[in-house]
Amino acid sequence: MAHYRRAGDVPPKRHTQHRDGAERLYFEELMGEEGFSSDSSLLYHREIPSAIVDSRPWEIPEAVTTPNHPLKPRHLKLHELFPKETWDETDAVTGRRLVLGNADVRLSYVVTSGDSPLYRNATGDEIVYVESGAATVETVFGALEAKEGDYVVVPTSTTHRWLPTGGEPLRAYVVEATGHIAPPKRYLSRFGQFLENAPYCERDLRGPGNPLQMEGSDVDVLVKHRGPGGVTGTRLTYARHPFDVVGWDGCLYPYAFSVHDFEPITGRVHQPPPVHQVFEGHNFVVCNFVPRKVDYHPLSIPVPYYHSNVDSDEVMFYCGGDYEARKGSGIGQGSVSVHPGGLAHGPQPGAYERSIGAEFFDELAVMVDTFRPLELGEGGLACEDPGYAWTWARRS
Ligand SMILES: [Fe+2]
Repeated sequence: MAHYRRAGDVPPKRHTQHRDGAERLYFEELMGEEGFSSDSSLLYHREIPSAIVDSRPWEIPEAVTTPNHPLKPRHLKLHELFPKETWDETDAVTGRRLVLGNADVRLSYVVTSGDSPLYRNATGDEIVYVESGAATVETVFGALEAKEGDYVVVPTSTTHRWLPTGGEPLRAYVVEATGHIAPPKRYLSRFGQFLENAPYCERDLRGPGNPLQMEGSDVDVLVKHRGPGGVTGTRLTYARHPFDVVGWDGCLYPYAFSVHDFEPITGRVHQPPPVHQVFEGHNFVVCNFVPRKVDYHPLSIPVPYYHSNVDSDEVMFYCGGDYEARKGSGIGQGSVSVHPGGLAHGPQPGAYERSIGAEFFDELAVMVDTFRPLELGEGGLACEDPGYAWTWARRS
């Protein structure tokens, strides 16, 4: 995110004395990726940011996965995972249920009305896509307001918490990377500015407001981090509240981007999924399909051609509108489809012919393509529609 921002009170020169009105020094912290060799920000704390008084194990939510074997396409009905009576008992961090995952990326889902504890993911960046509802995301950089259709991108090791707001629960689809998530390199100039042909740009990104000033002592933060067997958790207790930053600046910070600000790229004939890409991570990409004018060649077929994603598993999260190509499959709002490498997939029977002459698709979906096979998490297994794999064969 080579897009500089500055908030609150920072000194004119980095790494120099910065004092409050009583001449007390602030404590400078650098948050930087790839050691000291990539994007970073400098934050100025009232208290020493490393002052912890306790460290205990934290049992992270279920992370075991089951291979997609024997191989088949899957349909997972995420809305079945959280009945209404659970909404107050969960939160947007500890309540997540793992749907799919591999060593590069994990996809989980949560529906909640509860406030999360303070949390920091030290294993990678997270994108939290808000399917519905709204929340304030309080972070060490400041607060972000998130609403339906927002991607909230939280860099590795950003201390934050999720506070649902409004009358309806927060429904969140979480893409958790091992490593960093960023806009595709091909959208950026060699110096990092969004190019003219990118489907979104800096003006569409919303950064945090002014830094938060919170008081308190002995404050717990849940930290997900690398450890024995892959990923583990620790509950750290800080001497003082970690939200004590008076100012920060740099190119590394959480931000929000609304899927409704993505400008779709369309053509006379069917455009391949890379035109819908929005983010990239290590060994995976994120694309979104938004309401758009469809293919306008006089002989075009607007739904996709059948395709074998030879090198990837394809996961679609259906989060709005009416998805034309999947009609007749049982897929609806809140569904996830998994079309793995190893077999072709495409429109459900009848959709191909039915789409001819269509001018507009009112559909909204978030797609994650992974370059290594995905396995099913406990949440995915708990909401599977077992008949989906056979819906192309017209044998119902
Ligand atoms: Fe596909």
